[in-house]
Amino acid sequence: MLSKSRLRGWLARSAALMTLWSLAGEALAFTGEKYNMTQGVTEISHEVYKLHMAAFYVCCAIGAVVFGAIIYSLINHRRSKHPKPADFHESTLVEIIWTTIPFFILIGLAIPAAGTLIKMEDTRNSAMTIKVTAFQWKWNYEYLGEGVSFYSTLSQDSNVARQLGSGIDPNTVPNYLVDVDNELVLPVGQKIRFVITANDVIHAWWVPALAIKKDAIPGYVNEVWTKIDVPGTYRGVCAELCGRDHGFMPIVVKAVPEAEYKAWLESKKKGAGVAVASAAPVAVAAAAPAAAPAAAPAAPAAAKELSKDDLIKAGEKVYTANCAACHQASGEGLPPNFPSIKGSKLANGPADAHIKQILNGKNLMPPFKQLSDEDVAAVASYERTSWGNKGGAVTVAAVAAARK
Ligand code: CUA
Repeated sequence: MLSKSRLRGWLARSAALMTLWSLAGEALAFTGEKYNMTQGVTEISHEVYKLHMAAFYVCCAIGAVVFGAIIYSLINHRRSKHPKPADFHESTLVEIIWTTIPFFILIGLAIPAAGTLIKMEDTRNSAMTIKVTAFQWKWNYEYLGEGVSFYSTLSQDSNVARQLGSGIDPNTVPNYLVDVDNELVLPVGQKIRFVITANDVIHAWWVPALAIKKDAIPGYVNEVWTKIDVPGTYRGVCAELCGRDHGFMPIVVKAVPEAEYKAWLESKKKGAGVAVASAAPVAVAAAAPAAAPAAAPAAPAAAKELSKDDLIKAGEKVYTANCAACHQASGEGLPPNFPSIKGSKLANGPADAHIKQILNGKNLMPPFKQLSDEDVAAVASYERTSWGNKGGAVTVAAVAAARK
């Protein structure tokens, strides 16, 4: 029989333990929010989260049983208690038990996981397709069938702050290294198919909130899909080591209601700053207005020649977004792979050779054909008039001519 005082002591200890336990539970839930996998905003991401938690709890249970057995044995079968060890050998029953239990645990985890995997692969009946192409070190998004395509690169703020000796505290930059200039805008509630590939090396398109992490491999096309339930901004990064700026090619997905998406798409189609038909030699159209209708309607404003000052001013932005990573903000480069532009032959010599190198690349430098004529003219003008360079500004028409 339990005496009254012993019972009271036992109850008090139990209550204390319960309090401790619930506190620990709260702490766990709190840190869980911060350190656990995100639940995401799609049906698939919720399924992935549930699978993850199921596997986690199974691991916890196995851990408790295994460590419990170890600790129990350490205490109850210690040498001081049993100076003479038992000398039994082999037990068929025990071996069968510890083989079948893990077997059933694995099968139990594999069945729901396979179901989710099959669902993830099923890209049928999608409402739209986005082609994602990875580059060192940026993303290109093409809205297939819509004639809309653009590059998405690290935002200016982050890019300037990350430069060696920038003197800018990264903590003062909002969304440091996870912000881009052009977000991937998508409608909510629609099945969106992605076809993912790369142009140079292997990258990976990873957006945790959508539970998508898919390799982007040159020469291959990987498929995946999503249907976003909640409007919002979801951030991700490249998840495959792809060279020196691997850490600087983030992904931003902006999910908006259908109507807002439609409006955005229309504005993009009208060419508001989008270089859809950038390859068209539009500057020529201005010289022969009578024959102009042949020029792509997607880029009506492109034929305008910009003033030297405007070009140089715009060029600095283009330079920071595309060139500064290798050639540095100071133009001094990182020799020997990324030569200095400051005082270089190219930036002080004939404009044509300079423009052609920007368009076509050389050695480690990738081609920048995808930039519009204005952007190429701007960046060339900026490079040729900065850091003491005396090459002089170039014209948009010269860039259009160099493309041919
Ligand atoms: Cu692209 Cu890492």
